[in-house]
Amino acid sequence: MKRYLAYYNENHCENRNYDVVIVGAGIGGLYTSLMLPKNLKIAVLSKKDIYDSDSCMAQGGIAASIQDDNRKLHVEDTINAGCYVNNLEAVNTLVDESEEAIESLIKLGVNFDRDLKGNFYRSFEGNHSIPRILHVNGDSTGKGIMDALIKEVKNAPNIEVIPNVFALDIIEEDNKCNGIVAYYKDKFVYFKSRQCVMASGGIGQLFSKTTNADILTGDGIAMAIRANVELDNMEYIQFHPTAFYSQDFDNKLFLISEAVRGEGAMLRNSSGKRFMKKYDNRMELAPRDIVARAISHEIDKSNSNCVYLDATMYNRDFLKNRFNKIYSECKNNGLQIEKDYIPVIPAEHYFMGGIKVDLYSRTNMTNLYAVGECACTGVHGANRLASNSLIEAVVFGKRAAGDISKRINYDFEDNISTINTRNNPPNKGRQEFDVDFLKLRIDLKKLMDSSVGIIRNIDKLQNALNFVDEVLFKIENLKFNSVLDAEVYNMYLVARSIIESILNTKDSIGSNYVEEYSRHSVV
Ligand code: SIN
Repeated sequence: MKRYLAYYNENHCENRNYDVVIVGAGIGGLYTSLMLPKNLKIAVLSKKDIYDSDSCMAQGGIAASIQDDNRKLHVEDTINAGCYVNNLEAVNTLVDESEEAIESLIKLGVNFDRDLKGNFYRSFEGNHSIPRILHVNGDSTGKGIMDALIKEVKNAPNIEVIPNVFALDIIEEDNKCNGIVAYYKDKFVYFKSRQCVMASGGIGQLFSKTTNADILTGDGIAMAIRANVELDNMEYIQFHPTAFYSQDFDNKLFLISEAVRGEGAMLRNSSGKRFMKKYDNRMELAPRDIVARAISHEIDKSNSNCVYLDATMYNRDFLKNRFNKIYSECKNNGLQIEKDYIPVIPAEHYFMGGIKVDLYSRTNMTNLYAVGECACTGVHGANRLASNSLIEAVVFGKRAAGDISKRINYDFEDNISTINTRNNPPNKGRQEFDVDFLKLRIDLKKLMDSSVGIIRNIDKLQNALNFVDEVLFKIENLKFNSVLDAEVYNMYLVARSIIESILNTKDSIGSNYVEEYSRHSVV
C-alpha cells in the first residue's frame, strides 16, 4: 500500500517539534486542544481555513441531559435510534458527562439560547422523547460554538493553529505514533509529536449528495488505514433525510435541520400527501435511517426528484427568528417558507464508523487518539440520534485531553525518531503516467451514490468493490502531482474499507440496509 513516506526523506522535509499535534480544527480538535495543560506546545493542523469545517455548519444543536432531565431516557433514545448495537458504556459516559460538557462550553463563552427567564430553550429532534437539544442563535449552533473556541484558541499562547496543511501520513515505529507528515506551503513537513490526535472529520465528499464541507474526504481514516490502525463500524453511514434539493450536486447540499421537523414541520410527497404514517408511527420524528429510507422510497415510487417539507403552519416571524439561516437560504432560492414547501432529498451527512477508540479516545496505536466524526466510540450504534455528535466530540475530546495529560508526564521521551526512509528510498517505484484524477473522483461519487447509499444490495456492492480495487491497483504506485490527487487516493481507500465491511457484515441493521439480509421491506 502506498505511503507518502516513500516520496521524501529527512533532507527534503522540514522538521517541527510539538508535544501534541491535532489533525483537524473542528469542534473536536479545538476543544481537545483547549482542555490540554497550558504548558504543552500544541499544533492544530487545519486542512483549509479554520472556518471550513462541518462543525461550523452544524445547525440543529447539541443534545444534553441537564438539570433535572432523566438521563436514562437519553440513553434509551440513543440506543433505540442506534438499533441496540451501540457501545452501552460509551453511551452512559456520553450522557453522564453531557451536563459538565455544556457547563464547560458556557465557561468558554458559548451563549446557548435562553428564554426571558434565563432558562435554556430546549428542542425536539427525531427519536428524542423529551426536548433536550440546546442551540445557539437558532440554527447556527456549530458556528456559535466555533466562534467561542476560536477566540479562546487565538488567546492561548501554547496553541498554534496552522491553516492549509494537508496531512499525509501517520509516522509510526513499532506501532507507536511519532507524529504526522504533511504537505504545507509546497513542501513536506514532519510534525513530530509526543502525542497525536486525529480529529479530521467525516467522509461526506465520497458521495455527490452530501451536506458535508468540501474538505471532508476521509483523510484521517485513510491515514489510519495506511498505518494499520484499527477501524470499526465502517458500514454505518447516516443519510440526513432533509437536504435542500438542488440539481447542482457538485457542491455540498444545504441542510434543512431536523429541528424544523422537531418544531412540527411535515413531510409531503410529490402529490402533496403526508406519508410518514405508513412507515413509522413516530412519523416525521422517527430515527433518521427510517425517515431517509421512507423518503427515498416515496421518491422512487413517484419517479420524482424530491419530497417536500411543509413548515407553513408557522408565520414568517417565528421561522425567521428560530431558523434564520434556513429562512434566508430558502429565500435566496426563491422560497418563502411560511408559504412555500421546501424541496428536500436525503444526503450523506454523518459517518458512525471510523477509527476505533476506547472510552479515553485511545486508538490501538500507542500515542494516537481520535475524536469527533473520524473516531468510532460506538456511541451511535447503527444510526446516530440527532444532535449527539457535537456532545460526543466535546465529552470524548475532554477524555482524550485528560488521558494525554496523564501520560505525557510519565511517558516522556525526548528522542523522537527521525523518519526512517531505509526501506522507502525516495524515488523507487515512482511512476508517472496520465491518470485523470478528477474523473476518478466523480466516478467514485457516482458509484457511492448508486451502490453504497440508503438501500444496498450485494451484487452492486460486489461490482463496486471490483471497480474500487481496479482503480487502487492502478493508482497506488503513481506519483501524485497534487494534494487533490492524494485526496482521491484517500477517498478510494476509505470507500474500499466501507464496502468490504458491508459485505463482511452479512446483516442489515439501521443505516446499513442491505436488501438480501433485511427482515422487512424498505423500513
Ligand atoms: C440537523 O440540524 O438536522 C443536524 C443535526 C445533527 O446532525 O445531529
